[in-house]
Amino acid sequence: MTQELTSPSPAPQAAGTGRGPGWWRDAVIYQVYVRSFADSDGDGIGDLRGARERLPYLKDLGVDAVWLTPFYASPQADGGYDVADYRAVDPLFGTLQDADDLIRTAHDLGLRVIVDIVPNHTSDRHPWFQDPELARQRYLFRPGKGESGELPPNDWESVFGGPAWTRTDRGDWYLHLFAPEQPDLNWDNPEVHTEFEAIMRFWLDLGVDGFRVDVAHGMIKAPGLPDIGHGAQAQLIGAQVLPFFDQDGVHAIHRAWRRLLDGYGDAHGKHVIGVAEAWAPTSERLALYVRPDELHQAFNFQFLNAPWQADALRSVIDASLAATASVGAPTTWVLSNHDVVRHTTRLGGSLARARAATLLMLALPGSAYLYQGEELGLPEVTDLPDEVRQDPAFFRGGRATGAAGPGTDTEAAPDGVAAGGQDGFRDGCRVPLPWSGELPPYGFGPGGSWLPQPADWGGLTVAAQTGNPASTLELYRAALELRRRLPGLGDGTMSWAPAPDGVLAFTRPGLLCTVNTQGHDVGLPAPGTPLLSSAPVTVDGATAQLPGDSCTWWAI
Ligand code: BGC
Repeated sequence: MTQELTSPSPAPQAAGTGRGPGWWRDAVIYQVYVRSFADSDGDGIGDLRGARERLPYLKDLGVDAVWLTPFYASPQADGGYDVADYRAVDPLFGTLQDADDLIRTAHDLGLRVIVDIVPNHTSDRHPWFQDPELARQRYLFRPGKGESGELPPNDWESVFGGPAWTRTDRGDWYLHLFAPEQPDLNWDNPEVHTEFEAIMRFWLDLGVDGFRVDVAHGMIKAPGLPDIGHGAQAQLIGAQVLPFFDQDGVHAIHRAWRRLLDGYGDAHGKHVIGVAEAWAPTSERLALYVRPDELHQAFNFQFLNAPWQADALRSVIDASLAATASVGAPTTWVLSNHDVVRHTTRLGGSLARARAATLLMLALPGSAYLYQGEELGLPEVTDLPDEVRQDPAFFRGGRATGAAGPGTDTEAAPDGVAAGGQDGFRDGCRVPLPWSGELPPYGFGPGGSWLPQPADWGGLTVAAQTGNPASTLELYRAALELRRRLPGLGDGTMSWAPAPDGVLAFTRPGLLCTVNTQGHDVGLPAPGTPLLSSAPVTVDGATAQLPGDSCTWWAI
């Protein structure tokens, strides 16, 4: 299945994408969910050519890097997170040449490129799983319990619902923490290590600048695969160490990958990074993934899950900064991704809060991840008909967002907006982007779109928002431009300043940031001159009125 490049390319080295002093420490990284970003061929599914054509938009938006979700050969049982060939591009998304072209174009624009790697499981169509002998060595097969082995080997539940085990027609069972089409690999087998290192080198040779490591907390299971003895296991993910997640053994794998990434970077005069998608019960345990000899970054889902309350936000920010400082890593911030409800909807269905939360995030020290469409203020689509849904969890009766941890339930949504998407599933945050025009597919491509877009998105398109200073798109552009202009804003220091109840205030090099989490105006002594605000702020003499649910950056 592996495709050959017509003209193999050396790692691109454009201006602005070379080594740089730890570029990831304050980078703003834009997540491209490939199937929903831009479609070049009219099949209604976004692809690599479509994404490449839109790279100038991302350059203009002001991000530093893009993260592409899996575009590898896959039966698409879980949106491409079920990989059948890690070195081939799925024909749905293009060819290896298209991937090469995209990486080159990004580098020419000064954008770095991160790709997903999926090491916890493969597709059940992967050649290893298809070969019974190889499968037994490289996946987790166990005999069943019960008189004739008719019961699963233990009580583990799949994140997507139902037992985490499926019985083969040979009578034994295999483990799949996600869908049955995603068998878990046996990381006790050295051949699995060797193969993933080779896959990383393959993409590094094509020029990528790093990897987002899917389920980075999952590869190692507790010895003996012990029962948990608790129902609702998806609720526990990220709340406690489970025998299948966040086991200490995963760190040896990350240390080996760090050696590989550093070695490759040293040999090629660049920094290539690893980003952990890891669910750990505490900020301290998450920080273990970014110790100096492990991965460079880990997604900070504690921040994503924080309710819109000043005290809660402040404690998450403090805990995140303290934990990463203890290991010398930069903190990351994220509000939306392809597994959770878009933050406009999650934060009480309030675009005002979403805009404020974004300005808060971009004022914090460290690196920030943006999810495509959040710059347009897109809401979650909550009325998708059942017949168009594709999230495997929908068909298994689980909570697809179990992968997104305990904060994906209503506790993180104070206004009662379920944070798990429409009925707890993930298609509603994956609806294709609206680029232009008044009617679907809004310039997404020459055909339709694989999920229906709402009829009222005409005012939310990139074209409609461009040039309108009140638009969310222009707010993002202005914030990212200021972030670049103010030295030290990315990776510098931060100190809290006094503020009234329900308001956060903190200083960063060159600015003070206020966040009013209350739904009404709050007056306070004007801290300086407004630089940028998520809602119109008024300054009358020495007093400033912060609008409800707003964030303002002040020049001080
Ligand atoms: C990805 C999900 C995916 C799951 C299984 C998660 O971390 O973000 O989209 O379903 O891993 O690969």
